[in-house]
Amino acid sequence: MTTSDGFISIRHVNKFFGSFQAIEDVSMNIGQGEFFSLLGASGCGKTTLLRMLAGFESTSSGEIYIDGQPTSDVPPHHRPVNMVFQSYAIFPHLNVRDNIAYGLRKQKLPKAKRDEMVEEMLELIKLPGYGQRKATELSGGQRQRIALARALILRPKVLLLDEPLGALDKQLREQMQLELRALQRQVGITFVFVTHDQEEALTLSDRIAVMSGGKVLQVDTPAGLYETPKTREVASFIGNMNFFQGTVRRNGAAMGAVETEGLGHIPVPLDQLTKPDGAPVQVALRPEKFELSPTRPEGALHAVEGRLSNAAYLGERSHYYVSIAGKDQPIAVSTQNLGRMTGAPDISGDAPMWLSWAPEAIVILDADETG
Ligand SMILES: Nc1ncnc2c1ncn2[C@@H]1O[C@H](COP(=O)(O)OP(=O)(O)O)[C@@H](O)[C@H]1O
Ligand SMILES: [Mg+2]
Repeated sequence: MTTSDGFISIRHVNKFFGSFQAIEDVSMNIGQGEFFSLLGASGCGKTTLLRMLAGFESTSSGEIYIDGQPTSDVPPHHRPVNMVFQSYAIFPHLNVRDNIAYGLRKQKLPKAKRDEMVEEMLELIKLPGYGQRKATELSGGQRQRIALARALILRPKVLLLDEPLGALDKQLREQMQLELRALQRQVGITFVFVTHDQEEALTLSDRIAVMSGGKVLQVDTPAGLYETPKTREVASFIGNMNFFQGTVRRNGAAMGAVETEGLGHIPVPLDQLTKPDGAPVQVALRPEKFELSPTRPEGALHAVEGRLSNAAYLGERSHYYVSIAGKDQPIAVSTQNLGRMTGAPDISGDAPMWLSWAPEAIVILDADETG
């Protein structure tokens, strides 16, 4: 689901540590049952925001509502949230069952009921029968499952996860990503998940908030972020992107156009073109949106001739760099290797290589003086 009904509502939140501002005017809504991720480079404020949701940090200003209730006066243990950390915060001296049941100790439950709840959790995390195991006899992936079970057994309305898969090796991490997604769907609890790994965020999330320098740059679905980034920063953070400076040329035609450095006078669908005639813009095109052909493609609205300057074979894909007149940086192109590849492409620089693309693949961004 991708709604943003404001089950969690973060409104104009700022956070200062002394004079350093770690969070700057962050506002966003997170829907009930959503798998929501905070994505950004190390130091951008993800953990700080998560800790404010948990109540481990106060906000300097602004308010966070959870399930309709303002939270600033609510201490962590009275919030309907629970947190899972990157390091396996499980107790080495307790067995698996007692680790999972740890949070229940203050609730006066009959032992049989408690054991039943633990067994249910062990089923959920696919470790049935592991109750008597010592915590020290578990692998990294198993420990992180136990940490999850320990948080989920308390039935929080919101589970906060701070890079919980960060310590696992790549293969195990990918497997755990799939399990985590399935588990979240099964329990239906709202997950707020922190990661600096864009692929992980894209794999797991209903929606993602891209953060940088304490600010939220864009909140969108994975496809929304990838296909329609709102800024150059988001466009280059999620995947690769080619940028071209340009000027809007409306010409009163059915199809708009942008005069670009390198790509020439290119057609752009009018609904992509909200700027007036003459406005400076940036044209952005993902590497895989290009088609490469040794001769001018027939029927293409527009095509540009270049020279292959570099190529890399990556198994399922190949990456090419194509130099074009009027642009310093070569254009990155990525193609899927559908047929069997034989031999390396000729990058001696003499062979012409034509670039074409569908006008709908173009993203128009505000002009950027750094471009
Ligand atoms: N308790 C603190 N005191 C001072 N600065 C802090 C504190 N916690 C975090 N910061 C700073 O706030 C910024 C954001 O940190 P953090 O939220 O941990 O980033 P992330 O989780 O995205 O890596 C960093 O520059 C960090 O050094
Ligand atoms: Mg962090």
